[in-house]
Amino acid sequence: MSKKKILITGGAGFIGSHTAVALINAGYQPVIVDNFSNAEPSVLEAIEKITGTSVKCYNLDCCDAKNLNLLLQKEGSFDGVIHFAAFKAVGESVQEPIKYYKNNLSSLWEILELMDKSNTTKIVFSSSCTVYGQPDSLPVTEASPIKEAESPYAYTKQVGEQILTDRVKNGGMQGILLRYFNPIGAHPSSLIGELPQGIPNNLMPFITQTAKGIRKELSIFGDDYDTPDGTCIRDYIHVMDLAEAHVKALQYMEDNPETAIDHFNIGTGNGYSVLECLNAFERANNVKVPYQIAPKRAGDITQIWADTEKANRLLDWKASRTLEEAMRDAWNWEQKLSQ
Ligand code: WQD
Repeated sequence: MSKKKILITGGAGFIGSHTAVALINAGYQPVIVDNFSNAEPSVLEAIEKITGTSVKCYNLDCCDAKNLNLLLQKEGSFDGVIHFAAFKAVGESVQEPIKYYKNNLSSLWEILELMDKSNTTKIVFSSSCTVYGQPDSLPVTEASPIKEAESPYAYTKQVGEQILTDRVKNGGMQGILLRYFNPIGAHPSSLIGELPQGIPNNLMPFITQTAKGIRKELSIFGDDYDTPDGTCIRDYIHVMDLAEAHVKALQYMEDNPETAIDHFNIGTGNGYSVLECLNAFERANNVKVPYQIAPKRAGDITQIWADTEKANRLLDWKASRTLEEAMRDAWNWEQKLSQ
C-alpha cells in the first residue's frame, strides 16, 4: 500500500525537520516546502541520514500563490498538511509587526486555498501557548480563556486559529490546532537541531552558544517577575516529543473523520524558570554559562505551563523526554555544529 503523503510547510525548520523524521518513522511520506528564510538545505541530507529516506523538497514561499500552484501541478493532492511556515520570535514580532502579520497570516490562507483546490482535507496547524496571553490560573487547559495577545506573534496565532476554525465550519476539511509550549533540544543523533539565524532570540540556543563561547554571556531578561526566583517560567518540551505529537494529530483525524476541529496543549505539564533551565543545562553538561541580569523584554509573559490531559487522553500522546535529556541533546547538537 502506498504511503500517505504529507505536505510539511516550513519542513526544513527546527520543528518541521524533526516532524519529518517522526512522520517517516511512522510510515508517512513527507514532502517539504520551505523558503529557507530560517533553515539550511543541509537539513534535508541530515533527515536522509537519520531515516534512510530521502525527502522531496520544494524551495518555495508559502505566501506566493503562483509557487503553490506549481507545487499542485507537480504533486496533486496530499493526505494531510502540517503548516509550520511562520516567523516565531516573540520579541522580534514586537519590533517588526507587519513582517509577522504579512508572513504568518498570508501563508495560512494560501495553504488553505491550496488544500481546497487539491481536495486535501486534513491540516495540523502550528499554534502556540502564546494564544493564552498572561493566564490568570495555571496550568492552562484548552478551555482557559484566550486573553489579549501580548505580542504580534501571539496575535497571528490567535487569528490563525480563527481563520482555520471559520474555514472548517463550511465542511470538507478537518483541522487540529496544536498549541506548542517551548520547544527545545535536538534529535539524539545531533544531525538536526535548532539553527537560529544570527543572534538567537530564544533562550536555549543562546545558552548553548554562550556555553560554546560564541556569545560572551547570557542576558536574563528580568529577575523581578512575580515568580519564586524572579525569572519567567515556561514549559520546555523536547522537540522530538513535540514532533511525535503531530503524527498523533494526523492519526486522530484519520481515526475520527467526524471531528471537524479541535485544539490541544502540547507541553510537558511542568514549568521551569530561566534560572532553573540555566542550572539544569550546567548540571546536565558540566559546563558553566556566564550570565547577567538585563531589562525585561517587551512581549514576555510572566509564567505559563500546560495541562496536557486532553492530548494524553484523546491523542494518546504524552511527552516522555526529560528536561535533562533536552539539555544534553541541545548541547551535543551545538558542539556538533562547530565541528
Ligand atoms: C523564554 C524565556 C525570555 C532569551 C517561544 C517561542 C514561541 C512559542 C513560545 C511556539 C523568556 C527568556 C530568552 C534570552 C532570556 N513557541 N530569555 N534571555 O518567548 O517563551 O516563546 O515559545 O510557538 O514561538 O519563541 O521563548 O526562548 O524566547 O524565551 O532571558 O536571551 O527566556 O525572557 O522568559 P518564548 P524564548
